[in-house]
This record gives sequence, structure tokens and C-alpha cells, in this order.
Amino acid sequence: MARQFFVGGNFKMNGSVETIKKIIGYLNEAKLDPKTEVVIAPPALYLLLAREHLKPGLEVAAQNVFDKPNGAFTGEISVDQLKDSNITWTLLGHSERRVILQEDDVFVASKTKAALDGGIGVIFCCGESLEQRESGKTIDVVTSQLKAVKDKVADWSKIVIAYEPIWAIGTGKVASTEQAQEVHAAIRGWLKKEVSEKVAEETRIIYGGSVSEKNCKDLSKQTDIDGFLVGGASLKPAFVDIINSHL
Ligand code: G3H
Repeated sequence: MARQFFVGGNFKMNGSVETIKKIIGYLNEAKLDPKTEVVIAPPALYLLLAREHLKPGLEVAAQNVFDKPNGAFTGEISVDQLKDSNITWTLLGHSERRVILQEDDVFVASKTKAALDGGIGVIFCCGESLEQRESGKTIDVVTSQLKAVKDKVADWSKIVIAYEPIWAIGTGKVASTEQAQEVHAAIRGWLKKEVSEKVAEETRIIYGGSVSEKNCKDLSKQTDIDGFLVGGASLKPAFVDIINSHL
């Protein structure tokens, strides 16, 4: 079965009531590829606003979730609270959280398990720094991030893997189609070897890092690229062109 194309918009710590309503307005109005799954991830404060205004069929993701059910965890949000608010996805392991907030592989995997156990889909981010790429460690880094998940999770059906090379995020320096395809194929190969052929076949592996309306078409034609996780461009009308890149 063909993997459904998937495009996520990660607003990061951007937006206001006014601008988020505006983005949702043009997403609701636009003619979007009905075969593409679309998920937007606004800052936590605006999740309910987004869910309230976004039309049915388009989904909302948190940018993070905690791995405890409830209690004295100031500043955190639980899986049950996301579900209670009809938020069906969460990003986890974004490099900005791994690097700036020092989240390690085990913690990210633990949050991934908590989200999946609670029935929330996970856009699991992985990727290497420039230094790691230049020293030939890209595949090792990405697969060890994935191995931490494999150690805790058996069911991969609600995981979308987002390969995001750190050096390509917000830099305007997109990975070449060959660079991206090479890592996506390696991830799929790792899934086949370490998890199962079925999981390798069915798991969406999406690319993130300076995706724009200009480069998305070529990337979308690669065999192992099943969509995108878009940062900066998801705040602009051009996001619609990226969603429709597979048409
Ligand atoms: O989550 C999205 C990525 O960090 C990509 O961000 O499209 O602004 O480079 P970007």
C-alpha cells in the first residue's frame, strides 16, 4: 500500500492570535491535495484556538508533550490534556529541544512511548549536526536516536519520522535531493533490519530543513521522501504550495 504523503507545519515559537487565525484562514480556503495528510503545530498556547478554527480533516499537533500522566510538573502538558483538546499529534525530539533544552535520546523516547500509549501520533524528529555530518556520523546519529525509540516502543503505526539535518534548519541551506534521499533510504533500511519489513514499508519518513515552495517538488519525487516538516515557510501562504507539492 502506498504511503500517504504527510506535510507538517511547525510554527515553533511564532505567531499570535491574529496571525495564527490568518494562516488557518487561508489553509481552510485553499484547495489542498486531498491525498495529503496535513498537520499544523502552533505554540501550546494556541492549540485550542487552532483546533477550534481549523477545518475538519486538517489536524493539530503539539510541539512537545510530557511523559507523566498528571501532577506537579510545572510548565508541562500531558497526553490526556492533548486528547481532551482534540489534539491528535505531537512533535517530539526536535533538535531545538534536544540542543537548547538538552533533551536526550532516552527522554525523547520515553515521551514518544507515553504519547503512543495514550493514542497520540508522534512526529519523531531526528538529525545530525554539521560537525557530525562532516565526520561521517550522520547515519550513526540518526539510527541511535531511533534505537532509543525501538527500545521502548513496539507499535510504529502512529509514528512519522522527520529527518531534519540540524545544519539545514532555518538556514536556507536545504539538503540536496541526493543527501536527503540517502538518509531516508538508510532510515528505511534500518527499520527493515531492526524492526520489521512491514514497518519499513509503511512508516512515513518526511524531510525537514529549509523546505520551501521552490525546492519541495524535487524533494517530493524521491522514493523515500514521504512528505515534509516545514518551519519558516509554514507561516506563509507558500505553505499551501508545499502541501500540494505531490500533485
Ligand atoms: O520543524 C521544522 C524544521 O525545524 C525546519 O525548519 O523549515 O524553518 O528550516 P525550517
